[in-house]
Amino acid sequence: MSRSTVVDHIGLLVTNDPTIGEGPLGLCRDASVVFADGRIVAVGRSGQVADHRIDAAGACVVPGFVDSHTHLVFAGDRGDEFAARMAGSPYEAGGIKVSVAATRGADAPELTRLTNARRVEARRGGITTVEIKSGYGLDIATEERCLTVAQQFTDDPTFLGAHVVPPEFEGRADDYVHFVCHEMLAAARPHARWIDAFCEVGAFDVDQSRAVLSAGRDAGLGMRLHANQLGYGPGVQLAVEMGCASADHCTYLTDADIAALAASTTVATFLPATDFSTRQPYPDARRVIDAGATVAIATNCNPGSSYTTSMSFCIALAVRDMHMTADEALLAATLGGATALRRDDIGRIVPGARADLVVLDAPSYTHLVYRPGVPLVRTVIERGVEV
Ligand code: NIG
Repeated sequence: MSRSTVVDHIGLLVTNDPTIGEGPLGLCRDASVVFADGRIVAVGRSGQVADHRIDAAGACVVPGFVDSHTHLVFAGDRGDEFAARMAGSPYEAGGIKVSVAATRGADAPELTRLTNARRVEARRGGITTVEIKSGYGLDIATEERCLTVAQQFTDDPTFLGAHVVPPEFEGRADDYVHFVCHEMLAAARPHARWIDAFCEVGAFDVDQSRAVLSAGRDAGLGMRLHANQLGYGPGVQLAVEMGCASADHCTYLTDADIAALAASTTVATFLPATDFSTRQPYPDARRVIDAGATVAIATNCNPGSSYTTSMSFCIALAVRDMHMTADEALLAATLGGATALRRDDIGRIVPGARADLVVLDAPSYTHLVYRPGVPLVRTVIERGVEV
Protein backbone atom coordinates (compact mmCIF):
# COMPACT_ATOMS: atom_id res chain seq x y z
CA MET A 1 0.00 0.00 0.00
CA SER A 2 1.32 3.47 -0.86
CA ARG A 3 1.32 6.46 1.49
CA SER A 4 -1.96 6.71 3.38
CA THR A 5 -3.84 9.91 4.23
CA VAL A 6 -6.38 10.67 6.94
CA VAL A 7 -8.90 13.48 6.86
CA ASP A 8 -9.29 13.95 10.57
CA HIS A 9 -11.47 15.94 12.94
CA ILE A 10 -14.51 16.00 10.63
CA GLY A 11 -17.39 17.68 12.46
CA LEU A 12 -20.07 16.14 10.26
CA LEU A 13 -19.36 13.39 7.74
CA VAL A 14 -21.84 12.44 5.01
CA THR A 15 -21.17 8.83 3.97
CA ASN A 16 -24.42 8.17 2.06
CA ASP A 17 -24.44 4.75 3.70
CA PRO A 18 -27.19 4.27 6.31
CA THR A 19 -25.36 1.21 7.66
CA ILE A 20 -22.41 3.38 8.67
CA GLY A 21 -24.21 6.41 10.12
CA GLU A 22 -27.50 8.06 10.87
CA GLY A 23 -30.36 8.39 8.36
CA PRO A 24 -30.25 8.10 4.56
CA LEU A 25 -27.11 10.26 4.45
CA GLY A 26 -25.31 7.95 6.88
CA LEU A 27 -24.20 10.89 9.03
CA CYS A 28 -21.24 10.50 11.41
CA ARG A 29 -20.04 13.11 13.88
CA ASP A 30 -16.45 13.70 14.99
CA ALA A 31 -15.21 11.35 12.30
CA SER A 32 -12.18 10.64 10.16
CA VAL A 33 -11.61 8.96 6.79
CA VAL A 34 -8.45 7.11 5.77
CA PHE A 35 -7.54 6.47 2.15
CA ALA A 36 -4.65 5.06 0.14
CA ASP A 37 -4.05 4.19 -3.51
CA GLY A 38 -7.05 6.32 -4.47
CA ARG A 39 -9.51 4.23 -2.44
CA ILE A 40 -11.12 4.69 0.94
CA VAL A 41 -9.65 2.30 3.50
CA ALA A 42 -11.51 3.17 6.71
CA VAL A 43 -14.26 5.40 8.08
CA GLY A 44 -14.24 5.86 11.86
CA ARG A 45 -13.95 8.16 14.84
CA SER A 46 -11.55 11.10 14.82
CA GLY A 47 -7.99 10.16 15.66
CA GLN A 48 -7.29 7.42 13.08
CA VAL A 49 -3.65 7.56 12.01
CA ALA A 50 -2.04 7.60 8.58
CA ASP A 51 1.17 8.77 6.90
CA HIS A 52 -0.32 12.16 6.07
CA ARG A 53 -3.00 14.14 7.93
CA ILE A 54 -5.48 16.72 6.66
CA ASP A 55 -7.22 18.55 9.51
CA ALA A 56 -10.85 19.27 8.67
CA ALA A 57 -11.02 21.42 11.83
CA GLY A 58 -14.60 20.47 12.62
CA ALA A 59 -15.96 21.15 9.11
CA CYS A 60 -18.48 19.08 7.16
CA VAL A 61 -17.18 16.55 4.62
CA VAL A 62 -19.37 15.23 1.80
CA PRO A 63 -18.79 12.80 -1.08
CA GLY A 64 -17.50 14.47 -4.24
CA PHE A 65 -20.37 15.64 -6.43
CA VAL A 66 -21.26 13.37 -9.36
CA ASP A 67 -22.34 15.45 -12.35
CA SER A 68 -24.18 12.93 -14.51
CA HIS A 69 -25.23 15.30 -17.32
CA THR A 70 -22.86 17.75 -19.05
CA HIS A 71 -22.00 18.96 -22.53
CA LEU A 72 -18.50 20.21 -21.66
CA VAL A 73 -16.98 19.84 -25.14
CA PHE A 74 -17.91 22.84 -27.28
CA ALA A 75 -16.47 25.99 -28.80
CA GLY A 76 -18.03 29.44 -29.15
CA ASP A 77 -20.18 31.59 -26.92
CA ARG A 78 -23.94 32.18 -26.77
CA GLY A 79 -24.04 34.97 -24.21
CA ASP A 80 -26.04 37.16 -26.62
CA GLU A 81 -28.68 34.44 -26.95
CA PHE A 82 -28.91 34.27 -23.17
CA ALA A 83 -29.26 38.06 -22.90
CA ALA A 84 -32.02 38.03 -25.54
CA ARG A 85 -33.80 35.31 -23.58
CA MET A 86 -33.68 37.35 -20.42
CA ALA A 87 -35.27 40.15 -22.48
CA GLY A 88 -38.16 37.87 -23.45
CA SER A 89 -37.11 35.57 -26.32
CA PRO A 90 -38.01 31.89 -25.79
CA TYR A 91 -35.42 29.09 -25.54
CA GLU A 92 -35.43 26.93 -28.67
CA ALA A 93 -33.56 23.72 -29.50
CA GLY A 94 -32.32 25.34 -32.73
CA GLY A 95 -29.73 27.44 -30.85
CA ILE A 96 -27.62 24.29 -30.68
CA LYS A 97 -26.65 24.84 -34.33
CA VAL A 98 -24.71 27.98 -33.38
CA SER A 99 -22.47 25.89 -31.13
CA VAL A 100 -22.22 23.20 -33.81
CA ALA A 101 -20.76 25.71 -36.28
CA ALA A 102 -18.17 26.93 -33.75
CA THR A 103 -17.27 23.41 -32.62
CA ARG A 104 -16.78 22.13 -36.16
CA GLY A 105 -14.23 24.93 -36.61
CA ALA A 106 -12.21 24.01 -33.52
CA ASP A 107 -9.38 21.46 -33.63
CA ALA A 108 -8.72 18.83 -30.94
CA PRO A 109 -6.10 20.83 -28.99
CA GLU A 110 -8.44 23.82 -28.81
CA LEU A 111 -11.41 21.67 -27.70
CA THR A 112 -9.17 19.98 -25.13
CA ARG A 113 -8.07 23.36 -23.76
CA LEU A 114 -11.66 24.61 -23.50
CA THR A 115 -12.93 21.40 -21.92
CA ASN A 116 -10.07 21.30 -19.44
CA ALA A 117 -10.84 24.84 -18.27
CA ARG A 118 -14.47 23.84 -17.61
CA ARG A 119 -13.42 20.62 -15.88
CA VAL A 120 -11.00 22.52 -13.62
CA GLU A 121 -13.74 25.02 -12.75
CA ALA A 122 -16.16 22.19 -11.93
CA ARG A 123 -13.61 20.41 -9.77
CA ARG A 124 -12.93 23.58 -7.83
CA GLY A 125 -16.63 23.55 -6.97
CA GLY A 126 -16.47 19.98 -5.68
CA ILE A 127 -17.40 17.91 -8.76
CA THR A 128 -15.17 14.84 -8.80
CA THR A 129 -16.96 12.89 -11.56
CA VAL A 130 -18.48 14.14 -14.81
CA GLU A 131 -20.37 12.52 -17.62
CA ILE A 132 -19.66 14.34 -20.91
CA LYS A 133 -21.78 14.26 -24.07
CA SER A 134 -20.83 14.93 -27.67
CA GLY A 135 -23.55 16.56 -29.74
CA TYR A 136 -22.01 19.78 -31.05
CA GLY A 137 -20.35 18.06 -33.99
CA LEU A 138 -23.17 16.26 -35.77
CA ASP A 139 -20.83 15.05 -38.49
CA ILE A 140 -18.63 12.00 -38.18
CA ALA A 141 -15.28 13.75 -37.85
CA THR A 142 -16.40 16.30 -35.27
CA GLU A 143 -18.47 13.88 -33.18
CA GLU A 144 -15.46 11.55 -33.06
CA ARG A 145 -13.17 14.47 -32.19
CA CYS A 146 -15.47 15.61 -29.38
CA LEU A 147 -15.73 12.10 -27.92
CA THR A 148 -11.97 11.65 -28.06
CA VAL A 149 -11.59 14.91 -26.15
CA ALA A 150 -14.29 13.87 -23.67
CA GLN A 151 -12.49 10.57 -22.98
CA GLN A 152 -9.58 12.55 -21.52
CA PHE A 153 -11.86 13.85 -18.76
CA THR A 154 -14.41 11.14 -18.09
CA ASP A 155 -15.03 7.41 -17.88
CA ASP A 156 -18.59 8.18 -19.02
CA PRO A 157 -18.49 9.70 -22.52
CA THR A 158 -21.92 9.83 -24.18
CA PHE A 159 -22.60 9.83 -27.92
CA LEU A 160 -25.29 12.44 -28.65
CA GLY A 161 -25.32 12.50 -32.45
CA ALA A 162 -29.12 12.87 -32.17
CA HIS A 163 -28.94 16.32 -30.58
CA VAL A 164 -30.59 18.23 -33.46
CA VAL A 165 -30.75 17.77 -37.22
CA PRO A 166 -27.68 19.56 -38.68
CA PRO A 167 -28.09 22.09 -41.53
CA GLU A 168 -26.88 19.69 -44.26
CA PHE A 169 -29.79 17.34 -43.40
CA GLU A 170 -32.39 20.14 -43.10
CA GLY A 171 -35.84 18.70 -43.86
CA ARG A 172 -34.46 15.14 -43.93
CA ALA A 173 -34.59 14.17 -40.26
CA ASP A 174 -35.20 10.47 -40.98
CA ASP A 175 -32.16 10.33 -43.25
CA TYR A 176 -30.08 11.93 -40.51
CA VAL A 177 -31.35 9.42 -37.94
CA HIS A 178 -30.34 6.60 -40.30
CA PHE A 179 -26.90 8.18 -40.64
CA VAL A 180 -26.57 8.51 -36.84
CA CYS A 181 -27.61 4.88 -36.32
CA HIS A 182 -25.12 3.52 -38.84
CA GLU A 183 -22.03 5.40 -40.06
CA MET A 184 -21.83 7.85 -37.17
CA LEU A 185 -22.49 5.28 -34.47
CA ALA A 186 -19.81 3.00 -35.93
CA ALA A 187 -17.26 5.81 -35.61
CA ALA A 188 -18.44 6.92 -32.18
CA ARG A 189 -18.84 3.51 -30.58
CA PRO A 190 -15.18 2.94 -29.62
CA HIS A 191 -15.12 6.26 -27.75
CA ALA A 192 -18.43 6.10 -25.87
CA ARG A 193 -20.03 4.30 -22.94
CA TRP A 194 -23.51 5.75 -23.46
CA ILE A 195 -25.93 6.81 -26.18
CA ASP A 196 -28.37 9.69 -25.76
CA ALA A 197 -30.97 11.49 -27.89
CA PHE A 198 -32.89 14.76 -27.53
CA CYS A 199 -36.55 13.66 -27.66
CA GLU A 200 -38.37 16.97 -28.04
CA VAL A 201 -40.33 19.13 -30.45
CA GLY A 202 -37.66 20.79 -32.64
CA ALA A 203 -35.26 17.87 -32.17
CA PHE A 204 -36.31 14.19 -32.56
CA ASP A 205 -39.70 12.55 -32.22
CA VAL A 206 -40.38 9.39 -30.23
CA ASP A 207 -39.85 6.95 -33.12
CA GLN A 208 -36.60 8.61 -34.18
CA SER A 209 -35.38 8.65 -30.56
CA ARG A 210 -36.31 4.98 -30.11
CA ALA A 211 -34.38 4.09 -33.28
CA VAL A 212 -31.27 5.88 -32.00
CA LEU A 213 -31.44 4.30 -28.53
CA SER A 214 -32.02 0.84 -30.01
CA ALA A 215 -29.06 1.17 -32.36
CA GLY A 216 -26.84 2.26 -29.48
CA ARG A 217 -28.06 -0.55 -27.25
CA ASP A 218 -27.47 -3.10 -30.02
CA ALA A 219 -23.93 -1.75 -30.37
CA GLY A 220 -23.36 -2.31 -26.64
CA LEU A 221 -23.89 1.22 -25.30
CA GLY A 222 -25.91 2.09 -22.21
CA MET A 223 -28.91 4.36 -22.82
CA ARG A 224 -29.97 7.74 -21.43
CA LEU A 225 -32.44 10.27 -22.85
CA HIS A 226 -33.19 14.00 -22.85
CA ALA A 227 -36.88 13.87 -21.97
CA ASN A 228 -39.71 16.30 -21.26
CA GLN A 229 -37.53 19.41 -21.19
CA LEU A 230 -39.60 21.98 -23.07
CA GLY A 231 -43.06 20.49 -22.72
CA TYR A 232 -45.09 17.38 -21.95
CA GLY A 233 -44.27 14.54 -24.31
CA PRO A 234 -43.41 10.88 -24.74
CA GLY A 235 -39.75 11.08 -23.69
CA VAL A 236 -40.02 9.84 -20.12
CA GLN A 237 -42.25 6.92 -21.12
CA LEU A 238 -39.79 6.02 -23.87
CA ALA A 239 -36.85 6.16 -21.45
CA VAL A 240 -38.66 3.80 -19.09
CA GLU A 241 -39.82 1.48 -21.89
CA MET A 242 -36.25 1.20 -23.21
CA GLY A 243 -34.73 0.70 -19.77
CA CYS A 244 -32.62 3.86 -19.94
CA ALA A 245 -30.35 4.46 -16.95
CA SER A 246 -31.67 7.99 -16.75
CA ALA A 247 -34.36 10.33 -18.12
CA ASP A 248 -32.87 13.80 -18.01
CA HIS A 249 -34.63 17.15 -17.50
CA CYS A 250 -38.08 15.80 -16.45
CA THR A 251 -39.36 19.38 -16.24
CA TYR A 252 -42.87 18.57 -17.47
CA LEU A 253 -44.20 15.36 -15.91
CA THR A 254 -47.72 13.95 -15.93
CA ASP A 255 -48.94 11.66 -13.14
CA ALA A 256 -48.46 8.75 -15.56
CA ASP A 257 -44.84 9.80 -16.19
CA ILE A 258 -44.16 9.90 -12.47
CA ALA A 259 -45.80 6.52 -11.93
CA ALA A 260 -43.72 5.04 -14.75
CA LEU A 261 -40.48 6.42 -13.28
CA ALA A 262 -41.40 5.18 -9.80
CA ALA A 263 -42.04 1.66 -11.11
CA SER A 264 -38.74 1.57 -13.04
CA THR A 265 -35.00 1.64 -12.48
CA THR A 266 -34.70 4.77 -14.66
CA VAL A 267 -33.36 7.67 -12.62
CA ALA A 268 -35.19 11.00 -12.97
CA THR A 269 -32.34 13.48 -13.43
CA PHE A 270 -33.26 17.09 -12.75
CA LEU A 271 -31.27 19.95 -14.25
CA PRO A 272 -32.51 22.97 -12.28
CA ALA A 273 -29.91 25.42 -13.62
CA THR A 274 -31.46 24.84 -17.04
CA ASP A 275 -34.91 25.81 -15.82
CA PHE A 276 -33.28 28.85 -14.19
CA SER A 277 -31.42 29.88 -17.38
CA THR A 278 -34.35 29.29 -19.71
CA ARG A 279 -36.99 30.81 -17.41
CA GLN A 280 -38.96 27.59 -17.37
CA PRO A 281 -41.05 26.32 -14.49
CA TYR A 282 -39.14 24.07 -12.10
CA PRO A 283 -40.13 20.41 -11.97
CA ASP A 284 -42.07 19.27 -8.95
CA ALA A 285 -39.42 17.02 -7.46
CA ARG A 286 -41.50 16.51 -4.33
CA ARG A 287 -44.11 14.53 -6.26
CA VAL A 288 -41.44 12.44 -7.96
CA ILE A 289 -39.62 11.61 -4.72
CA ASP A 290 -42.82 10.95 -2.81
CA ALA A 291 -43.88 8.52 -5.55
CA GLY A 292 -40.69 6.54 -4.88
CA ALA A 293 -38.57 7.31 -7.95
CA THR A 294 -34.79 7.61 -7.70
CA VAL A 295 -33.66 11.14 -8.50
CA ALA A 296 -30.40 12.86 -9.43
CA ILE A 297 -29.38 16.49 -9.90
CA ALA A 298 -26.83 17.54 -12.52
CA THR A 299 -25.52 20.85 -13.88
CA ASN A 300 -26.15 20.25 -17.61
CA CYS A 301 -23.22 22.58 -18.25
CA ASN A 302 -23.62 23.66 -21.89
CA PRO A 303 -23.35 26.91 -23.86
CA GLY A 304 -27.07 27.33 -24.53
CA SER A 305 -29.43 26.38 -21.75
CA SER A 306 -27.21 26.15 -18.65
CA TYR A 307 -23.71 27.59 -18.66
CA THR A 308 -22.75 26.73 -15.10
CA THR A 309 -20.45 24.16 -13.50
CA SER A 310 -21.79 24.84 -10.00
CA MET A 311 -23.43 21.85 -8.33
CA SER A 312 -23.86 23.97 -5.18
CA PHE A 313 -26.04 26.35 -7.19
CA CYS A 314 -28.09 23.40 -8.50
CA ILE A 315 -28.54 22.06 -4.96
CA ALA A 316 -29.73 25.47 -3.77
CA LEU A 317 -32.26 25.69 -6.63
CA ALA A 318 -33.47 22.15 -5.99
CA VAL A 319 -34.24 23.00 -2.39
CA ARG A 320 -35.52 26.53 -2.88
CA ASP A 321 -37.57 25.97 -6.03
CA MET A 322 -38.14 22.23 -6.42
CA HIS A 323 -39.07 21.63 -2.79
CA MET A 324 -36.45 19.00 -2.07
CA THR A 325 -34.96 18.92 1.41
CA ALA A 326 -31.25 19.73 1.74
CA ASP A 327 -30.66 16.04 2.55
CA GLU A 328 -32.49 14.89 -0.59
CA ALA A 329 -30.68 17.41 -2.78
CA LEU A 330 -27.24 16.41 -1.50
CA LEU A 331 -28.07 12.73 -1.97
CA ALA A 332 -29.28 13.46 -5.51
CA ALA A 333 -26.08 15.35 -6.37
CA THR A 334 -23.85 12.52 -5.17
CA LEU A 335 -25.34 9.01 -4.91
CA GLY A 336 -28.19 9.91 -7.29
CA GLY A 337 -25.69 10.93 -9.98
CA ALA A 338 -23.73 7.73 -9.39
CA THR A 339 -26.90 5.67 -9.81
CA ALA A 340 -27.77 7.56 -13.00
CA LEU A 341 -24.35 6.49 -14.31
CA ARG A 342 -24.79 2.95 -12.96
CA ARG A 343 -21.61 3.37 -10.92
CA ASP A 344 -21.11 1.88 -7.47
CA ASP A 345 -17.54 3.10 -6.95
CA ILE A 346 -18.46 6.75 -6.42
CA GLY A 347 -21.08 8.84 -4.58
CA ARG A 348 -20.40 7.33 -1.14
CA ILE A 349 -17.68 7.57 1.48
CA VAL A 350 -17.31 3.90 2.36
CA PRO A 351 -14.37 1.48 2.44
CA GLY A 352 -13.53 0.39 -1.09
CA ALA A 353 -15.09 3.42 -2.80
CA ARG A 354 -13.03 5.91 -4.76
CA ALA A 355 -11.49 8.48 -2.43
CA ASP A 356 -13.52 11.47 -3.67
CA LEU A 357 -14.20 13.84 -0.78
CA VAL A 358 -15.09 17.50 -0.41
CA VAL A 359 -14.25 19.44 2.74
CA LEU A 360 -16.72 22.30 3.06
CA ASP A 361 -16.01 25.65 4.62
CA ALA A 362 -19.10 25.09 6.74
CA PRO A 363 -20.27 23.01 9.69
CA SER A 364 -23.09 21.41 7.64
CA TYR A 365 -24.06 20.73 4.03
CA THR A 366 -27.21 22.74 4.76
CA HIS A 367 -25.00 25.80 4.24
CA LEU A 368 -24.87 24.98 0.52
CA VAL A 369 -28.46 26.22 0.44
CA TYR A 370 -28.43 28.58 3.42
CA ARG A 371 -25.48 30.55 1.96
CA PRO A 372 -26.25 30.54 -1.80
CA GLY A 373 -23.61 31.83 -4.17
CA VAL A 374 -20.84 31.62 -1.55
CA PRO A 375 -17.86 29.40 -2.50
CA LEU A 376 -18.01 26.90 0.36
CA VAL A 377 -15.71 24.23 -1.06
CA ARG A 378 -12.46 24.34 0.95
CA THR A 379 -10.63 21.20 -0.22
CA VAL A 380 -11.34 18.70 -2.99
CA ILE A 381 -9.82 15.22 -2.91
CA GLU A 382 -10.27 13.24 -6.14
CA ARG A 383 -9.06 9.64 -6.42
CA GLY A 384 -7.13 10.24 -3.20
CA VAL A 385 -5.30 13.31 -4.46
CA GLU A 386 -5.84 16.81 -3.09
CA VAL A 387 -6.57 18.85 -6.23
O1 NIG B 1 -29.62 19.62 -22.27
N1 NIG B 1 -31.54 19.77 -24.53
C1 NIG B 1 -30.64 19.60 -25.26
N2 NIG B 1 -29.33 19.91 -25.05
C2 NIG B 1 -28.90 20.89 -24.10
C3 NIG B 1 -29.03 22.26 -24.63
C4 NIG B 1 -28.02 22.56 -25.60
C5 NIG B 1 -27.96 23.94 -26.14
O2 NIG B 1 -28.90 24.75 -26.10
O3 NIG B 1 -26.87 24.19 -26.66
C6 NIG B 1 -29.70 20.72 -22.83
O4 NIG B 1 -30.35 21.65 -22.36
